[in-house]
Amino acid sequence: MTQDSTGTSITFDRATKIYPGAASPALDELNLEVEAGELVCLVGPSGGGKTTALQLVNRIVDLSSGDIRIGGRSITDQSAIELRRTIGYAIQQSGLFPHYTVADNIATVPVILGWDKERIRTRTAELLELVGLSPVETWLPRYPAQLSGGQQQRVGIARALAADPPVMLMDEPFGALDPITRVTVQEEFLAIHRAVGKTTLFVTHDIDEAIKMADRIAILKPGGKLAQFDTPEQVLSNPADDFVAEFLGAERGLKRLALTTVGEIVTADSVRTDAEDAGWPDVEATMTLREALSLVSAAGAEGAVVNSGGSRLGEVSLHDLIAPPASAGGDREGLRA
Ligand SMILES: Nc1ncnc2c1ncn2[C@@H]1O[C@H](COP(=O)(O)OP(=O)(O)OP(=O)(O)O)[C@@H](O)[C@H]1O
Ligand SMILES: [Mg+2]
Repeated sequence: MTQDSTGTSITFDRATKIYPGAASPALDELNLEVEAGELVCLVGPSGGGKTTALQLVNRIVDLSSGDIRIGGRSITDQSAIELRRTIGYAIQQSGLFPHYTVADNIATVPVILGWDKERIRTRTAELLELVGLSPVETWLPRYPAQLSGGQQQRVGIARALAADPPVMLMDEPFGALDPITRVTVQEEFLAIHRAVGKTTLFVTHDIDEAIKMADRIAILKPGGKLAQFDTPEQVLSNPADDFVAEFLGAERGLKRLALTTVGEIVTADSVRTDAEDAGWPDVEATMTLREALSLVSAAGAEGAVVNSGGSRLGEVSLHDLIAPPASAGGDREGLRA
């Protein structure tokens, strides 16, 4: 990557939005600090103010009261146009210009910024590779209508990253994808996030997506009030109130198992004989406990054999899977490695 900045903080300071004619706020005194380089997922019920919160940041919507600061500087200290050049914005429908090619879509902001042709060409190719669309020559001349929904969303993400903005706002960017493509694109996006370290505010309806992606999760409740802001591990193990507990659902305990990989709990001294673990399914060390539990359950077994890169690391029992040691989990780097 060329000259990627490491990102900058986003501070919501009692940020409030009351739409004209509305009786109550869509977003009510939101206090939230997204640290530089952090990926925060914003979740909550439909109409809870998530899109409003994002659109306040890039001034598509104006604050009614309170302030939002990026890197300590109020968003109202500069023109909306100037502000938006520092923010990448990706939305569910991808928002690509239908009459522009992929190349021209990605180049939109760099062209406005007056970059020379060679720099734009290099950057566009680099971004297409990054979002997994290669060889780039195949994709550059295509129009959005000639791409699948998932490919359009990848181009939308590439476009949002084009001018190397320190801040990314993403509003259900994977919302239209089927579950398999969605997992692929989530993993690609996490890899990109690790590589470029943008400060990212990511809206999703899908709590599992938030648990997988987020450093911290902000949960909004009806009326645009912040219910909880904490790590996935903390939100799942200590929901702040009944609303959060209900929002996380009855499977909260199972979801927590998605924070730990089998590789984190397997111990080398758990070696059994082949006879003892007959019928135990093979799992990869990178699988989450939740995924492994699902395989063990489907096999009607009492444990699983853990492999990594084709060699056997050991085994995990059913008990290990459902009651991992307290030290395991919550290690995002471990999960993402
Ligand atoms: N332009 C607008 N004018 C008036 N009211 C609006 C406008 N945009 C949103 N609202 C209202 O503000 C509230 C919050 O809407 P918002 O779009 O932020 O919710 P959301 O959390 O993004 O919901 P969803 O999950 O359905 O996308 C809703 O009650 C909505 O009806
Ligand atoms: Mg929305």
